[in-house]
Amino acid sequence: MAAVTEDLFKNVISHAKEYGYVFPSSEIYDGLSSVYDYGQYGVELKKNIREYWWRAMVQMHENIVGLDASIFMHPTTWKASGHVDAFSDPLIDNKDSNKRYRADVLIEDHMAKIEEKINKEVEKAAKRFEKFDAQVFKTTNARVLEYQAKIDEIEARFKTALETDNLAEVKQIIVDLEIVCTVSGTRNWTDVRQFNLMFNTQLGSVSEESSTIYLRPETAQGIFVNYLNVQKTGRMKLPFGIAQTGKAFRNEIVARQFIFRMREFEQMEMQFFVAPGDDMKYYEEWKTKRMAWHNSIGLGANKYRFHDHIKLAHYAKAACDIEFQFPFGFKELEGIHARGNFDLSQHELFSGKKLQYFDPERNESYVPCVVETSVGLDRLFLSILSTAYTEEKLEDGSIRTALNLPAFLAPIKAAILPLVKKDGLPEVAKKLMNELKYDHMVQYDEKDTVGKRYRRQDAIGTPYCITIDHDTLTDNAVTIRSRDTMTQVRIPLTEVNEYLRLRTSMTEVLKTL
Ligand code: GAP
Repeated sequence: MAAVTEDLFKNVISHAKEYGYVFPSSEIYDGLSSVYDYGQYGVELKKNIREYWWRAMVQMHENIVGLDASIFMHPTTWKASGHVDAFSDPLIDNKDSNKRYRADVLIEDHMAKIEEKINKEVEKAAKRFEKFDAQVFKTTNARVLEYQAKIDEIEARFKTALETDNLAEVKQIIVDLEIVCTVSGTRNWTDVRQFNLMFNTQLGSVSEESSTIYLRPETAQGIFVNYLNVQKTGRMKLPFGIAQTGKAFRNEIVARQFIFRMREFEQMEMQFFVAPGDDMKYYEEWKTKRMAWHNSIGLGANKYRFHDHIKLAHYAKAACDIEFQFPFGFKELEGIHARGNFDLSQHELFSGKKLQYFDPERNESYVPCVVETSVGLDRLFLSILSTAYTEEKLEDGSIRTALNLPAFLAPIKAAILPLVKKDGLPEVAKKLMNELKYDHMVQYDEKDTVGKRYRRQDAIGTPYCITIDHDTLTDNAVTIRSRDTMTQVRIPLTEVNEYLRLRTSMTEVLKTL
């Protein structure tokens, strides 16, 4: 990570804490590694993102319904899904620093560094030539071609090593690439070994009676085991989807980068059940739909890209990630997978219960195939928060820190500010707040100068500040100041509700999908 970006990311993390968005968990006991709590504004932003996903998936699709399955599930679920035997990451330790890494992440980061070099070459050339075509440059410039060849070579070797479960080769790649530990600076590595990521605990109070159960590492299995319940009780016809949001737990080896990789996090997953043979069509459709959903948030289309998986699970037909440009580079935000009928077939096998669908058109019963979309709520939160954070030097030399959050997701839509704490202005302001609060999250603030209150609301990310001044008492109008343009308009008190609705409503954004 370049120093400037690294500093900016540190500022985002401290801003998130200072303004009640994200706190380290149990901080009074020095925190718990890679576990975080959402504060008073964080919980609102998170709730709004979750709601936007839910409405786009469930409310907008007649053939998608919701579910809320438990975190604990019968332990055989995880045998059937393959998690007990194969939900692991390849880890490697540096013998000098004892620091533990994910072997695949070390290699991927190395490739990302080479890609950064390519981008630098492109940037340099773009400045030099007036007419510049990045695509042509990438296919003709000798240095770029050399870098690209290096990436392709590493990728091919890495893919083969993963496909053949050749952990010795994974280590050899790390050795050959001369990757060093960031702490000790040495290449003194242990062998690569697999580490299961599931947390387990005991069900039952007496040890003889107890059995090992797991904290779910994904919400998806709750959907698979309820497939038939939902299909039957909802009289669902293929194709149809089941959507769910909820906590998942993974004992990540290298949990880092703030809320990007946590041990307790929230997923928003949708399993779309389709007839065999239709899965690739729906896979492509969901790729397009999900990318459109991300773009509708308004952070900029150039911030997202697709990345096809190097290694496909043996049952999967296709898998890709939607990656987002976080402050530390392009990283996975959402996964989209064509999973075949693997999951339902496995649950049939392990439970002995039929999980089939009778297709009246084909006049046959079969196990449906599944296309899955799976996005991390906390990662989405980070993508939005880190893009919204800005520091701007004003003419008077001071720094204005703002969260330019998309208005429909902002925790507080408007702050209501009486110009002074007297002359009847607080009463008018509170009356307005009591009217608006039924439709909008609003906040009343009378402390400090209006300038200071504006700054405070900018830092929280409130898109509008409504000031009640002495003229309000006679003209029944207020001044509304926009966070993004810092311009002001004066409108009648009676129009404030509609003014806010038009500019902060989630419904209006849903209509753009
Ligand atoms: N059911 C499929 C599944 O769980 P995944 O790629 O392992 O697929 C899906 O996870 C999404 O969950 C990821 O794209 C990411 O956004 C989020 N996620 C996964 N592990 C995470 C972690 N440790 N911390 C935060 N988010 C995580």
